[in-house]
Amino acid sequence: MTDSNLMEKIVSLCKRRGFIFPGSEIYGGLAGTFDYGPYGVVLKENVERLWLQMFRDSRDDMYGVDAAILMNPKVWEASGHVAGFSDPLAECKKCKKRFRADHLDDAKKCPECKGALGDVRQFNMMFKTHAGAMEDDSATVYLRPETAGGIFTNFKNVIDSLHPKLPFGIAQIGKAFRNEIAPRDFIFRLRELEQMEVEYFIHPSEWEHAFEEWRKVMHFFAEAIGLPQNMIHELEVEDKDRAHYSKRTIDFEFEYPFGRKELWGLAYRGDFDLSAHETNSKVELKYLDEATGEKFTPHVIEPSLGVDRTILAILTSAYREDDMGADVRTYLALAPKIAPVKAMVSPLLKNKPELALKAREVRAELQKIHPAIAWDDNGNIGKRYRRQDEIGTPFCITIDFDTLGEKPELKDTVTLRHRDTGEQERLTVAKVAERIRTAIQ
Ligand code: GAP
Repeated sequence: MTDSNLMEKIVSLCKRRGFIFPGSEIYGGLAGTFDYGPYGVVLKENVERLWLQMFRDSRDDMYGVDAAILMNPKVWEASGHVAGFSDPLAECKKCKKRFRADHLDDAKKCPECKGALGDVRQFNMMFKTHAGAMEDDSATVYLRPETAGGIFTNFKNVIDSLHPKLPFGIAQIGKAFRNEIAPRDFIFRLRELEQMEVEYFIHPSEWEHAFEEWRKVMHFFAEAIGLPQNMIHELEVEDKDRAHYSKRTIDFEFEYPFGRKELWGLAYRGDFDLSAHETNSKVELKYLDEATGEKFTPHVIEPSLGVDRTILAILTSAYREDDMGADVRTYLALAPKIAPVKAMVSPLLKNKPELALKAREVRAELQKIHPAIAWDDNGNIGKRYRRQDEIGTPFCITIDFDTLGEKPELKDTVTLRHRDTGEQERLTVAKVAERIRTAIQ
């Protein structure tokens, strides 16, 4: 399978099985936007829940916020985004199409119509809109380009309300918007994206230690969501390529089918943001260490994880095809923890009420472990398995006449079928429940 073929297959599976759809599809779509469908949204929530557990809830030094997307435009002036959040753009004089200049092989010729390209200019990637009825410059607001802005502006609120001691951090999951010149590669480069970000506030002398700690947490998270460690590569970002606020950045790159590309970032933002917001807002954003009497501007370590790129890494690395001779079995080898459906229960035959009754009972029993236990009695059993394989359901459970006691020694046992191997075993419902509980822990 070629890599472009693999992307086509994943895009098609996502649409066919209700994971991800093109945004505004019935109107021909809108570039750089996608909608998560019924299974996609649950997969995304499972990933986000794990992130919240690992980055916020299991720690005593972490707090959450959910800040407004629309913020006072002074936030983005202070953060440097109004002046510096731009990509180099070249416009074709003939077809008027616009391209990212740093992605072009020939800086003078249009890659599509071969017309002449104009001069390169900086294109600010923030989406602009207007707050209220006025549409003049005084009403301009921006859709946030990173969730971090809403964290820095709440630094003082968290200190004043909860009085945390340094080091501490603030975590947030939310949408961010970037008017990318060339959105592409499915959900890799979007105009509307979602981020899971932490701003971790530290004494300046602690930055290297904190950087290493968060680096480890990011790898643990990758493992928890089932990303193969050998597909993740760290890249030390050179001075010239770092964002304007960063003193050190490591990109976590992933081997996507279209190449090794940035998945997540870990940055040392120094005191850039708090100092800039203090200067511009005239509100003091310092920390007083009551033990030593030292007052200073905390420095910041920022693990920043794009949700959509995470989902794409999960889907592309979990996609499998088994050659079964006559046909091909497709399945997603998702980690059970993040799989949208944990198990499917079905009666062997549809038109036997006694089987359905028992199967419903078994399902209710398993739902005590996790609610996402699906029911399927459509078509033959093989087809039901294939449907679940494609959405990454780790277990399928079938209830037959032996479950009802046709063979007395098998009464109350069921068939448990494993997604990755197709292997089946005969177990009691209690044992099946135990298997599911262990797998999703
Ligand atoms: N607050 C820091 C920040 O926003 P970034 O490297 O620009 O840093 C962080 O973005 C992460 O957000 C990236 O590593 C990536 O996962 C995700 N991301 C950035 N731009 C994206 C886009 N256009 N589409 C999808 N995800 C994107």
